Amino acid sequence: VPKCLLPVYDKPMIYHSISTLMLSGIKDIMIITSPSDRDRANELLGDGKKWGVKLTYEIQEKPRGIAEALIIAEDFLDKNPCALILGDNIFYGPNLEEKLKHANASNKNTIFTFEVTDPERFGICEIDDECKVISIEEKPLKPKSNLCVTGIYFYDEFAPQVAMNLSPSPRGELEITDVNKNYIKTHSLYAEVLNQEHTWIDAGTVESFLQASLFVKSIETQQGIKVSCPEEIAYKNNWIDRQTIENIAKDTSNSPYSNYLLKIIKR
Ligand code: G1P
Repeated sequence: VPKCLLPVYDKPMIYHSISTLMLSGIKDIMIITSPSDRDRANELLGDGKKWGVKLTYEIQEKPRGIAEALIIAEDFLDKNPCALILGDNIFYGPNLEEKLKHANASNKNTIFTFEVTDPERFGICEIDDECKVISIEEKPLKPKSNLCVTGIYFYDEFAPQVAMNLSPSPRGELEITDVNKNYIKTHSLYAEVLNQEHTWIDAGTVESFLQASLFVKSIETQQGIKVSCPEEIAYKNNWIDRQTIENIAKDTSNSPYSNYLLKIIKR
């Protein structure tokens, strides 16, 4: 089973990525999977209508790197700007929605950064006083900072072309870091800095996967809210109506999830 379909506490991991895009105001979403995962993803998520979004599916034949997603999505993007998010990244915290909406609405190529204690695991960047990115290194042995490039990227309409001109890295992948380096060359890559009030988890290892579940459980239990509930985001964005929420709640009746959905529309 692909990890992004496994549950992080009470919902599949991919709900987090889709919710983050929805919080950004994005309704037209392409999900790119390995050939064997496509049907399972489609079965779980459908066409997105129930969340007021449009989901389409494409296959990445071989794991040739994150940047290949931009090439696969070229026709879908049809010369429009885009956001790319990884299926195992969880974002949470104050003003996150504003920051995402701002990145989506501005014409700036934007990465989201977060300070980490294990910089060797990630893409690491340096930024100047105006949050312009001045360098990025992928999994550096001697990191120049602790500022990690998280797995959400907002790009202009040229991103597929940039990805097409890349050569594979020594690990045989088209690296998203190389796309970013290209935008650094043209002085057009900016960082939205998430601070310690935010949470960002790359849930790609067994440890961080468990950490993600514990995090979601603790927020949801303590605050009585749900982290990354697509129905709630769609309802607040006015993308779906009360009746749709009621229907979804009926389909999952007698679960804490359906009770929560009913609570949203009563509020
Ligand atoms: C990828 C990117 C890396 C980024 C990370 C965030 O790493 O290459 O730059 O910091 O996602 O989750 P990967 O998960 O492929 O090792």
